[in-house]
Amino acid sequence: PMIALRQLLDHAAEHGYGVPAFNINNMEQIQAIMAAAHATDSPVILQASAGARGYAGEAYLRKMVEAAAEQHPHLPICLHQDHGASPAVCQQSIRSGFTSVMMDGSLRDDMKTPASYAYNVEVTQKVVEMAHAVGVSVEGELGCLGSLETGQAGEEDGVGAEGTLAHDQLLTDPAEAADFVAATGVDALAVAIGTSHGAYKFTRPPTGDILAIDRIRAIHQRIPDTHLVMHGASSVPQEWLAIFREYGGDIGETYGVPVEAIVEGIKSGVRKINIDTDLRLAMSSAIRRLAVENTREFDPRKFFKAARDAARQICESRFEAFGTAGHA
Ligand code: G3H
Ligand code: 13P
Ligand code: NA
Ligand code: ZN
Repeated sequence: PMIALRQLLDHAAEHGYGVPAFNINNMEQIQAIMAAAHATDSPVILQASAGARGYAGEAYLRKMVEAAAEQHPHLPICLHQDHGASPAVCQQSIRSGFTSVMMDGSLRDDMKTPASYAYNVEVTQKVVEMAHAVGVSVEGELGCLGSLETGQAGEEDGVGAEGTLAHDQLLTDPAEAADFVAATGVDALAVAIGTSHGAYKFTRPPTGDILAIDRIRAIHQRIPDTHLVMHGASSVPQEWLAIFREYGGDIGETYGVPVEAIVEGIKSGVRKINIDTDLRLAMSSAIRRLAVENTREFDPRKFFKAARDAARQICESRFEAFGTAGHA
C-alpha cells in the first residue's frame, strides 16, 4: 500500500534501520527497485525529481507507481517528490498523489542560489501546513550540499548551488537545525555533511575531514525525533566505474560515500538515504557492456533488461546493508 514518509521512517527509527530512497525516471528503474524490495522484503521510497517529471511526465510516473503498488500489494511504498523548488511545486505533487514532498528551501526557487535562513523557514513552514492537512509528509533541507574539498556543489546541470560555497554553508549547524525543526514542523531533515550530487563527490576515499559523519551525531543529539536524510549518498562503486571504462566510457577518478559511512550515519539518526547516481552508473555501464559484447543485438528490450538487472543488484545490496531488509 501507499504510505507517508513519516510512518515509514518512524518504523525505521523504532527498529534502527535506514531506507534507501531511489530516484525513478522510467519503468525499468521502478521494476528494478520493486523486484529488489520484493526479494528482500523491504519497504520502499520511490522519489521523483523535477527532471523525472519532465522526462516521463507526471501522469506516467503516477500510473507506473500505481502499477508497482498493484503488483506488490504487501510492500509499503512512499512516493516522494525530490527537491521541490517552491510551495507551488509541492502543492502540485500533493494533488498528484505523492505521499511525501521535499521543500528544498536551502536554495532559492532557481535551485542555484543559496537562500537565507528566513526564506527557508517561510517556504518550508508553508508546505508543512498544506501537506500535513492532507496527511502528506515533508522533508526540508538546511545547509548546502557541496564538497568540503572544493566548495563546489557538484552537478553542473542538476540541483545545486552555483559558485563556491563557504565552509560554514557546507555543514548544517546543529543549533540552527533544532530551531528550524521547531519553526517548521518538518518530518525529515536533509543535512549538509560534505556530500554532493552526481558522480564526482570526492577526489580520494573520504575521511572524516571531508565526510562529516560526526556532524550527523551532533545534529541527532539536538533533534533526536527528526529523521535525518542523506542526499548525494551514492557510493559510486569502483567495480561499475571499471566496467563503464572497459566498454568505452569516459569517467575520471572519483569516489562516493562508502556504504560503511552510511551505516555509521544510520546509527545516528539517518533514516532516508538518497541514491540516484549509482543506478545511473550501473544501468549505463550494463548497456555499454552488452552493446560491445553483442554487436549484433538490436532488440532494445535486451539492453533495458541488462540495465534493470544491474540496478536491481545495487538496490538489493543497499536494502541489505542499511538493514531495511525484512521490515516490509
Ligand atoms: O537531486 C538530484 C537527483 O539526482 C535528481 O537528478 O534532477 O537529473 O533528475 P535530476
Ligand atoms: P546521488 O547523486 O549521490 O545519487 O544523490 C541523489 C540525491 O541526493 C537525490 O536527491
Ligand atoms: Na528528497
Ligand atoms: Zn538530493
